[in-house]
Amino acid sequence: MQSISNPALTTGNLNGLTLKNRLIKAGTFENLSPNGIPGTELLNFHKKFARGGIAMTTIGYCAVENAGRLNANMLTMHEDYREDLRLLVQGIQDQGCKVSGQMGHCGAFSKNHTLKGRPKGPRGGLNILGFAEGMWFCDAMTLSDIDHLVNAYSEAATFMKSVGFDALEIHFGHGYGLCQFLSPLTNKRKDNYGGSLANRLRLPLRVLAAVREAVGSDFPILGKISMSEGPRGGIRYEDSIKICKALDEAGIDAIIPSNGTSTMSPMLMFRGESILPALLRYEKNRLMRIILKLMGRAMFPTLPFYELYLLEQAKRIREVVKCKMVYIGGAASAENFTQILDAGFDFIQLGRTLLADPDLPQILAEKPDYKSRCTHCNQCVGTIESPQGIHCPVFFGGAQS
Ligand SMILES: Cc1cc2nc3c(=O)[nH]c(=O)nc-3n(C[C@H](O)[C@H](O)[C@H](O)COP(=O)(O)O)c2cc1C
Repeated sequence: MQSISNPALTTGNLNGLTLKNRLIKAGTFENLSPNGIPGTELLNFHKKFARGGIAMTTIGYCAVENAGRLNANMLTMHEDYREDLRLLVQGIQDQGCKVSGQMGHCGAFSKNHTLKGRPKGPRGGLNILGFAEGMWFCDAMTLSDIDHLVNAYSEAATFMKSVGFDALEIHFGHGYGLCQFLSPLTNKRKDNYGGSLANRLRLPLRVLAAVREAVGSDFPILGKISMSEGPRGGIRYEDSIKICKALDEAGIDAIIPSNGTSTMSPMLMFRGESILPALLRYEKNRLMRIILKLMGRAMFPTLPFYELYLLEQAKRIREVVKCKMVYIGGAASAENFTQILDAGFDFIQLGRTLLADPDLPQILAEKPDYKSRCTHCNQCVGTIESPQGIHCPVFFGGAQS
């Protein structure tokens, strides 16, 4: 497997954790845990990538509490699931692959019907995700809600480490709970948690400190951010450089600079073909279908895809932080990987590329010139709602022309 000609296949180190190469499966919510219970299907999904040779896989969207789930099929980091999660993590590790868990909280938007009361975020208003499902509103978090949230991250981190995860990835991006606090667009609070960037960083930094205290100084913590949110008034590249500096100074081990938000600007995250047809294929809610048909073209425009579409912006962060940097966004070949590592990045996360080519590292060890067959049609994005769980419909069945 090791190849001298391919630097992405050399070992790397993340706060004491040895990774056999530089390739990490990105968190991609799997939709393979019905009612939030992790079982064989989720294990088999991750085993594919583990057997294919990646160094570490990321279990997508592990909610730190029930109120942090977007929907009822998401995992919750809770004692009730200890044995299922232990078997999941162990089963992947048995394939020689490390396991990271993406710690998430949805904050102000949710369509999780098991939620008691309204979802809570930096401010009250419409629950944009649950609106079409009759969960119309969200509430503003009180100071004690904020303390509760920090504690939920701390308890989830302790739990995840004890279950056997090798690393944790805190989700600071894509418009979810912590991103809602970072964003001047969604955080209009008048207290110490809103207003200036220092105030908007207060909760995310408290969460990082709590997770660090829970897992100790020698356990890898990664953080995924959005370098920009897109809409006017949201997080801009200039802000994200400051956000990354603050996370670095607070002791994060690695930053993953992604882009966009899941609700307002997902095409900044993906580029390529509009995700609208894929979303419409699986959306069952009639009101949501109408909203998608009316507004989807404007919300999800096709954006030309080009390889390494986030590299130039991400390099600006690389220049200002000391921690490790994990590149994400349109990496598809050994040539891309070399370019990323030459730019000073330490690891590479892969999302769609691995959905199309689960055994990419193995292929590259034998065929260094191979380029992933992923076409960035983004049909996989719609499969987030598929009963089969996420997959690449083009190469693994169900593709629509
Ligand atoms: C089906 C699918 C599900 C995703 N789910 C998540 C998720 O749960 N958490 C997250 O941070 N990003 C998620 N993403 C975004 C990816 O992690 C990644 O940021 C994006 O696909 C760009 O990387 P790529 O060009 O390697 O695919 C998802 C992407 C896809 C295609």
